[in-house]
Amino acid sequence: MIIDELKKIKDDAVGELEKVENLKDINEIKVRVFGKSGLLTALSKGIKELPIDQRPLVGAKINDVRIFLQEKISEKEFFLEKQELENKLANEKIDITEPGKDVIVGALHPINDVIDKLTDICVSMGFSVVEGPEIESDYYNFEAMNIPKNHPSRDMQDTFFITDEILLRSQTSAVQAREMEKRKPPFKIVCPGKTYRNDSDATHSPIFNQLEGLVVDENVSMADLKSMLTILMKRLFGEDTAIRFRPSFFPFTEPSIEVDVSCPNCHGKGCSTCKGTGMLELLGAGIVNPKVLEMSGINSKKYKGFAFGFGLDRTAMILDSINNIKNLYRNDIRFLSQFK
Ligand code: DAH
Repeated sequence: MIIDELKKIKDDAVGELEKVENLKDINEIKVRVFGKSGLLTALSKGIKELPIDQRPLVGAKINDVRIFLQEKISEKEFFLEKQELENKLANEKIDITEPGKDVIVGALHPINDVIDKLTDICVSMGFSVVEGPEIESDYYNFEAMNIPKNHPSRDMQDTFFITDEILLRSQTSAVQAREMEKRKPPFKIVCPGKTYRNDSDATHSPIFNQLEGLVVDENVSMADLKSMLTILMKRLFGEDTAIRFRPSFFPFTEPSIEVDVSCPNCHGKGCSTCKGTGMLELLGAGIVNPKVLEMSGINSKKYKGFAFGFGLDRTAMILDSINNIKNLYRNDIRFLSQFK
């Protein structure tokens, strides 16, 4: 009887092992046959019920089946492990001949590119980079810059007023007084940022960008301003750039100058970029009016200053040959992706 059962256990297990397809199912067979309450274990327990002379023979037979099945299971386990590994390797195979996918790389906006270039040059000359609010008070934008209410020079800056006293800053010069109130001379600051005026054509946009510079120290002179701007322009447009200083007027500087550079497009010969003049007007500058220093709490007997204001859109348009300022603010990806 036991021998019949043993044969059935063996045949069943062999049959199952043939069909088994994964290691988990093999484990189930192992538990069922060899486990604590497994089939072979139960059978072994029955030996003691047999007549003494039969016990060694039956015991030995059960043991043979145990060894036989253990070997079969090991073989199958080895086979399935190998198969699993092969599948895994096949699935993880990398085809190194397959062409790669293109990575989309962005580019700096032409304005940010100019800001980076200019501020880098200024930082290399010891300037700190600062920021100021775009929504500004009439005081910082105009009055502290020696442009009182009803001053005729306000006319040139078609300002967006929010209330009588609050406006969208029309010039980054507004940061000058803010910084003078905060800092103790000597100091050198530049402030790039957005500015706003009610003006719109191919070369004017209601939103545009400027870069303001201010140096306050003892013994600051027009010679310092001119040499600093010469270095700045040559580093930005190239060593062979010619620079022209012209007298001008701004209420916050005295004396005031305007600065032109030779057209980087035609090198002074005359072309459509410079409207045939060979030169491009890029910035206003001057020696800070002592009145402006005093209004912001700086002793004008001891300290002097020079300041400059750059048009960044113009600069970007020249450097990148852009013919309409509006392109800088449309965020058209077809336009922007040209500047990679
Ligand atoms: N704020 C002037 C403008 O927007 C530009 C300017 C001129 C800035 C002379 C300055 C300066 O700092 O000294 O037209």
